Parts: sequence; structure tokens; C-alpha cells
Amino acid sequence: MPTTNLMTPFGTDIDLAEGAMNDPDRHLIRRPSDMKGYYQDEDALQKLIDDGDAVHYEVFEKDVPEKYGHVLFCISSLQPGRVGDECFMTKGHYHTILETAEVYLCLRGTGFMAMKSPDGRSVLEPMTRNRLVYVPPCWAHRSINTGDEPLVSFCAYQGDAGHNYGDIAEQGFPQRVFIRDGKTVIQ
Ligand SMILES: [Fe+2]
Repeated sequence: MPTTNLMTPFGTDIDLAEGAMNDPDRHLIRRPSDMKGYYQDEDALQKLIDDGDAVHYEVFEKDVPEKYGHVLFCISSLQPGRVGDECFMTKGHYHTILETAEVYLCLRGTGFMAMKSPDGRSVLEPMTRNRLVYVPPCWAHRSINTGDEPLVSFCAYQGDAGHNYGDIAEQGFPQRVFIRDGKTVIQ
């Protein structure tokens, strides 16, 4: 067993109510202006941008080496809201190393983990507090918030998996989620 270059163990504190990591090494913020091309109603997205471009979602991470053998983990918080009547969502991604999986444990909120496979299949798994969703290797994945509070989840995945936004900006996912007349509509 190699004993040189050993990484020192560490712990970190998570605020489950706020959906935040208290001392993250990386804090990614996406705003509506980062989401052009992802929603059906471009005019409604532009209005959100013009109205202050508020935080859309955030991802908190610790500085774990992006190498095979490590486990990268994050806390993500997706704000509630609609673009027109389409529910707020993350961009979604494949992993650069396609055949790598991920687990998402929902800590707060209500929504879906949308997943699509390279052969065209689509799955929407409900996300609610205490529900874990397993994203198998090869499936692109995005979070969708159908509720009125932040959708917060903990994720963990192989260290060298990487992110590939691939065809998602152009082709999206096979299904979109809307709130119409107070009801969730999947199309
Ligand atoms: Fe992922």
C-alpha cells in the first residue's frame, strides 16, 4: 500500500435547512443569463434576466482530487420558480467518462431527477426529502424543482467522472415539466 502523498481526512458541515455547505472550496452559481437555450419560453427567461438575474441554482463542493479512486460530492440548491410555466431546472449533464454513475439524496423540497439515455429513453424520478435517486452509468441527469421551496440534494460520484453538457443545450431532455392550473404537467 502506498504511504506517500496520502491525503489528510477532513470533515465539513452542511446546513440542511439552507441547502449550503458552510465552508465550500468551490461555489458554482448559475443565473438565468447562464440558461439561454434551455427553456421553452425564451421571452420569459429574458424577463428574469432583466429583472435582476437572481441566483437560479448553486452547487457547493469540497476540493477533492478529480481522480479515479476519489469520491466527489456536492450540495446543490435549485431555487423554486417558473420560466413562463416551465419549472426551474439545472442545465443537466452527461459525465465525461460516460460509464460513471451518481447518487442524489434529496434533503429538502419537491421535484424530479430527469434522466435520458443515449438510446433515447427518458425517466423522471420523484425527488422529495429523504428519497435517494440512483443515476446509472451513461444517463444524462438534471434536477427540476416543482415546489415552492429550494430543491436541495447531496450528490456523490466517481472522482474523475467529469461533466459533459453535450447535446443538452440544443436538444434538451425528452420531457419538460410545467405547472399549469396548479398541477404538474409533464410533456
Ligand atoms: Fe453528474
